[in-house]
Amino acid sequence: MRPLRLGVNIDHVATVRNARGETYPDPVRAAEIALSAGADGITAHLREDRRHISDADIDALADITRKRGRPLNLEMAVTAEMEAIALAHLPHAACLVPERREEVTTEGGLDVAKSHNTIAPLVGRLSAAGVRVSCFIDADPAQVAAAKSVGAAVVEFHTGAYCEAVRHRSPSAPQLLEQLKAAAREAARLGLEVHAGHGIDYETVKPIAAIPEVVELNIGHFLIGEAIFIGLGPAIQRMRALMDEARANSHEMAEELSK
Ligand code: PXP
Repeated sequence: MRPLRLGVNIDHVATVRNARGETYPDPVRAAEIALSAGADGITAHLREDRRHISDADIDALADITRKRGRPLNLEMAVTAEMEAIALAHLPHAACLVPERREEVTTEGGLDVAKSHNTIAPLVGRLSAAGVRVSCFIDADPAQVAAAKSVGAAVVEFHTGAYCEAVRHRSPSAPQLLEQLKAAAREAARLGLEVHAGHGIDYETVKPIAAIPEVVELNIGHFLIGEAIFIGLGPAIQRMRALMDEARANSHEMAEELSK
């Protein structure tokens, strides 16, 4: 089975910093710790309202990830301002996300089908500059097809609804997981690389990590919260161990079934 990478999203270190308008805690220091603790890459969302990550953070994160030879995944809205920033920094990857100022977090996937004519040229320009473009979408076959048609190399499935259903013990959780699995299969069939993220914690990471087509998870809020209690390095190490365990078990199951 393909290896599973962990991208650690350090946005909420900046949320805590900005709550006081201070210079600490520093998201760049968090990124350094994350990479040393087993993160494969760093993910950051530069929002239009700069509520957490700042332009200066992106400058510094681009710098340290380059120096350490690790990927930076820039989450960005489909706007001319964000395109200019992405093209100035040329991160390894850019994940196109929907953005509304009034939302608490990225509450659903990007409607790629609806915005095809805006997204396709943007994907073209970023890809031509060497940035690997991902579309953050819901587990919906129409959105998977649209992501393929705009020329994205990657789709990241929004796992928020599933994770919330598990935490709230909602009966819809198994069905939401099945939708994620089916969408992952469909994306892989179309030749898209499959990532997943949003709302993942120690409990929900295992079923998601066991989806064989998924090759990268992007996890932030839970890890930063857990860091308050056990430290960022140990929280990441524990998440990484759970991912690896789930992956190894699903590999064994796949081998059993093929016998
Ligand atoms: N992936 C994408 C595209 C996101 O927008 C976010 C949230 O910024 C995440 C992953 C990480 O979500 P969480 O912070 O809930 O782990």
